[in-house]
This record gives sequence, structure tokens and C-alpha cells, in this order.
Amino acid sequence: MKNQVTINKLIKPFKKVIKVSGDKSLSIRCILLSSIALGKSKIFNLLESEDVINAIRAVERLGVKCLRKKKYIEIYGVGINGFKIKKNTVLDAGNSGTLARCILGLSSSINAKVKLIGDKSLSKRDFNRVIKPLKLFGVNIKSKNGMLPIEFVGSSLLRPIEFTENKGSAQIKTCIILSAINTPGITKIKARKSRNHTELILKSLNYPIKVKKGKQYDLIDVKGKNQFKSFNYSIPGDISSASFFIVLTLLSENSELLIKNININPSRIGIIKILNQMNAKIKIVNKKNYKGEKIGDLKIKSVKNLRSINCDEHLNSSAIDEFILIFLVACKSSGISTFKKLSELNKKESPRLDIAIRFMKMIGIKVLRKNDDIKIFGNPKINLNQTYHSKNFLKDHRIFMMSVIAALTFGGEKWIIEDKDSIKTSFPNFLNILKKLGAKIN
Ligand code: S3P
Repeated sequence: MKNQVTINKLIKPFKKVIKVSGDKSLSIRCILLSSIALGKSKIFNLLESEDVINAIRAVERLGVKCLRKKKYIEIYGVGINGFKIKKNTVLDAGNSGTLARCILGLSSSINAKVKLIGDKSLSKRDFNRVIKPLKLFGVNIKSKNGMLPIEFVGSSLLRPIEFTENKGSAQIKTCIILSAINTPGITKIKARKSRNHTELILKSLNYPIKVKKGKQYDLIDVKGKNQFKSFNYSIPGDISSASFFIVLTLLSENSELLIKNININPSRIGIIKILNQMNAKIKIVNKKNYKGEKIGDLKIKSVKNLRSINCDEHLNSSAIDEFILIFLVACKSSGISTFKKLSELNKKESPRLDIAIRFMKMIGIKVLRKNDDIKIFGNPKINLNQTYHSKNFLKDHRIFMMSVIAALTFGGEKWIIEDKDSIKTSFPNFLNILKKLGAKIN
């Protein structure tokens, strides 16, 4: 069987209720944090995808026992400084930037040589962003050009740091917080706003972390070496996975969808804010709080008169993984949409800004680019009638899924979309849910 899908029909109108799988960011953080908790943690509704499996394997390599049960995973935390590693330990982060960056922070006090590797895509990504603060802590790191493979030797004599994180990257922030936990004294981070799951889990565990929220930056103080106990955590659905279905519904005719139990942390719902400004009318209902995280159900209906947006760049971090979908909506909106300062988009599993522009041009949409700003000339009457081939995107799971949504809503004679297996990275259930909604995918 070929590792591709073909689609030659629009999805028919649907009215359904769905659930998507557990949040990837929370799944990885729960594994990493429970590995240094003291005692047995239970994590429910963990995302079962390759990135998360690689996180489990990585902590197992560090001497942490993990037991998969039917409804949850048990992680037997070894405590801060408790990792037991064998000689020549190699950690393989696979495709996951989050795992790779965060495990470097988690391992910063291991006093032995560890090697970190990843797949082809991860090996092209920038690690200088975390190497710099880790060196300040006192970790000895070697890499070629700031990329994987990395060899590092941590230290039991780390020193606290003061660091300004300017990219709005939660991966960098979390790497520093995890390293700060290994370090005696108080580490001070001035972090440009980004998803704050790590801070919220630590607060729910009564860990001494202080966050002073500002408009663009948060000031975070982490007191190191405070042992915390094991915990139970039930992971809500992933808004990044839900987003494919939000956009599917918006761009389909006469359809309605309710997506249940989604993490709606304000640092993650940029897509809802942006699409609602484009006239999407997405509603969040049944709101709850869970250990500091906000959870809700999302109600979406098809919309005929979508309009363009001049997108506020302060929303960039909270929609970082969803821009490629927001661009699809801009393609079908009336007017010219503007998005600015998107350089971080090119630092993902693939250079997503470049690839999204290539994709939009392939379907006949005019796109102008100036450095990292783009203008999309929307066409609500877009009428595709050729064969389209989505390929050469470095097996980026989100580009694959975005292409499928385009094929099911924009039409065309036929679509061939390569690298189907990429969905295993973050959302193995993606095609099954689409089929339940009535999509015809071969
Ligand atoms: C993530 C943070 C984001 C995001 C990634 C997951 C996380 O990356 O793109 O998919 O779990 O911390 P950056 O923090 O580097 O922007």
C-alpha cells in the first residue's frame, strides 16, 4: 500500500459530535514531570502518538519505569537527581522538538555523557536556542552548528541563571524551567508570552514557581531542588488537533460540529480569536477548570461570508501550530489578509511558511511575501478543477492534515497527498474521525 491518500470528492454536509485525542504538549510535559516526581503517577487520556511514545522511551532510558494500563499510564518517578543511566546512553527524540528541547533541561543534572538524536526533520532544527541558556546553567554541550546530534554532560553543581526568552517559545521556556528545577537557588526568566502548561502543572503540584504576568512578557521565578510528589492527571483534548475539524466545518456547506473536552488555555486559542475576527462565530460552551487549565466544548457551524483579517502579531504564539489552517480560511475569505512576523513558522517540523505559500500558489491563490510577513488575496468563489499533488513537505504531519482538509473543502478533479504515515506523530486517529464524518478518502 502506498503511503498516500487520494481524495476526489468534497465532504458532504455533516452534523456530528466528536472527540479528538489528548493534548500533545500536556502529554509530553506530564511524562517528563512525573519522571522526576516522587512515587507513582497516573496519566489518563495520554495521547498515543509517536512523539509521546518517544517521550516514554526517553524517560525509560533514564531509568524510569513506565507501565501502560488500559486507561492510563503509570510512571514511577525517581525524584529530582534520581535518573540512573547506563554508559553511552542515547536519547532519541524522533520528530519532536518539544521532547528534544525539554529533555535537555530535564537531564541537566545528569553527571555523565548523554547523546541526543532525532529524525531527519528534527536534525535540521535549531538547538542553539536551548544550548545558550543550558551552557549558562553549567551544562557541557557539544553540537555541530547548533543542531542534533548533541552530546552533553550535566552537572550536580549547576548555577541559577537570569534569562530573557524573546522568541515566544514554550519549548525554550520549559527547557529552562526544567533545568531550574535541577538547580539550587532561584532562576529568573523573562519570557515572551507562550503556552504556559509547564507553569500550571507545577503550580498545581505546589512547586515554588512564581509567575508575574505582563502584557507581552511573563516574569517567572523558579526555586530549584524542591522535590514534589507524584500526581494524577487527566489530559484534555488537543486544540491543535481540533483545529483541523474547526476549519473543515467552517469551509464545508451546511455543517455543524461539537468537539468535546478541549483544552482552551488562553495561550492556545489564538485560532479561535483569529477565525472569529474572520466571522467564524465559533462558540466555547460548558467551560470548566482543571488544575489551572481551562477546558470546554467547541461549537462550530459552516460560514458563507468569511472575511479577511489584519492579524495582530501578538496572537502569533497562541496560534503558532494553526497558521497553516488559518491560511486556508484566508484563501476562501473576501479581501486581503495580512499576517506578520511569522519567522518561527519556518522553524517547525518543516519550513511551514515556505511550504504553505507554495501550497496556496499551487491552488491558484495570490500570495505576496515580504521577509516574514505575508498577504493572502482571498477568493470566496475559488473553484478548483485540476489534479493537485501535495508532496515534499518533510513528512510534516500538520502539512499532511492541512492538505487533506483543503482537498475535502476546496474540491478539484483529484488530490494526491503524500506521507500519510506522518499523522502517527501527533494524531493517529485523524483519518478515522474524518471517515466517521463522512469523508471519502482512499
Ligand atoms: C510546543 C511549543 C510550540 C509548538 C509545538 C509544541 C510545546 O513550539 O509549535 O508544537 O509543547 O511546548 P515553540 O515553543 O518552539 O514555539
